[in-house]
Amino acid sequence: MKQEKFATKWGFVLAAAGSAIGLGNVWRFPYLVGQHGGFAFIFIYILMVAFICMPLMIAEISVGRLSRSNMIDAYKSINQRSGAKHSSVWTFFAGWLGALGIVMITSFYFLVAGWVIYYLVQALTGSLMQSSSREIEQVFTGLTQSFTQQAFYALLFLCVTAMVVLGGVKKGIERVSLILMPLLFLIFIVLAIQSLMLPGAEKGFDFLFKADWGAIGFTSNGFDIHQFAKVCLAALGQAFISLSLGFGTLLVYGSYMSEKENIFKSVGNIAVCDTLVGILSAMIIIPAIFSAGLEPSSGPGLTFISLPIVFGTINGGYFWGIVFYLLLILATITSTISLFECIVNLFISKFYQSRPLATLSASLLCGTGLTLVTLSFSGVVDIRILGRDLFTFFDWLTSTFISAIVSFTVALFVGYQAIKPMQCSILRGTTKRPFLMRYLFITLRIIAPVALGILLSIAAYDQILKPISIKFMIYYEHIIRFILG
Ligand code: TRP
Repeated sequence: MKQEKFATKWGFVLAAAGSAIGLGNVWRFPYLVGQHGGFAFIFIYILMVAFICMPLMIAEISVGRLSRSNMIDAYKSINQRSGAKHSSVWTFFAGWLGALGIVMITSFYFLVAGWVIYYLVQALTGSLMQSSSREIEQVFTGLTQSFTQQAFYALLFLCVTAMVVLGGVKKGIERVSLILMPLLFLIFIVLAIQSLMLPGAEKGFDFLFKADWGAIGFTSNGFDIHQFAKVCLAALGQAFISLSLGFGTLLVYGSYMSEKENIFKSVGNIAVCDTLVGILSAMIIIPAIFSAGLEPSSGPGLTFISLPIVFGTINGGYFWGIVFYLLLILATITSTISLFECIVNLFISKFYQSRPLATLSASLLCGTGLTLVTLSFSGVVDIRILGRDLFTFFDWLTSTFISAIVSFTVALFVGYQAIKPMQCSILRGTTKRPFLMRYLFITLRIIAPVALGILLSIAAYDQILKPISIKFMIYYEHIIRFILG
């Protein structure tokens, strides 16, 4: 089967930036900044992007471009090229685990995407902005408890996404990205300027650009390593989700990328755009929150409860509310396209299906996934894993563990196993080659695996072993008490 490719020079960067910029930037990043002390979190986030994520993006994209294969067979194909003996460890931990992760993300991502359509409808009818704060809170709670409404809007989003992906790489994904991305940037800038001019917005800027180092563990009582690791992991998990890294999406888009493109430059462009958009979103949302006298640390409800309250209080709130949720939909659709394409690509190249059939298969798979997540999240059916509903569980498992394990494996694969056969393809079109190679060597061989290893171990201890051992201790105590009467 002939591999599809992007037609224009901008195709790859815009499609990958479209994938990167999404709910992760506009919904997740601002509330994490709000919860983890403003600037200190942004600072750690930028370090994570520059020293861990960018080299990993380069690695993932180049595995795709060199192998021109799917996210599971790519590692084997590169090993065969260099005549190296293949170990299925790579295929399992980078390929299959990534595929599992992408199905989980897609399942809960469409649910949130559905909320956005619901909010746009509410904004258009004007009912959202006219409500009181209590009513707005009830709108959100009501929505999250309603299975039918959430499933309806999520499936609607799925259908629109499937229609674009059905069009293929050039006529579907590339064309939509070329139109939507510039529009998206324009709306972002207009909204940021509007937010800047709100009365009382300065307090929000103080919060955003003044660091609270205590929130990341540097307290007056000394250094709290668990707190520090927790924030680093949250920042890293966010960076992975935001850059669409660690689940094979970049590998798939890399396999559509032209030989001539400079991967370093493309990755630089994507990472800078994505980070700027995250910060810009925080600059739109947080000052507005302060200006309405609300708290920035309210978590996931920031975009869906606090912000509508703001729109209800400012001049022209009706108009700005519509523009904001429209922006969120545009950002989300280019991301759902990439998530969905990743699964479609797998059905096409691993299971030899035609694009229309693969689109149907992926729709059925994602439709089932999102229905299960919605059933569990709305509380209609009591499906829980480790005490979490499926939404929270998938979000937690993918952003804390799966992305890190997949990326750890890819870093070792490219850094140690396959750097020789890949070197030429990675460096194509670049100058300053010795410097770039040194950067890749240091980051892929040492910094990324060590940092990921440490953070993964701490997360496994804090979030799995400790809770289990505490539970075990409680049982143990019960048994001892029982025996001793
Ligand atoms: N990056 C997107 C966001 O910020 C989400 C996303 C799209 C994604 N494709 C992905 C995350 C692939 C992980 C893997 O919202």
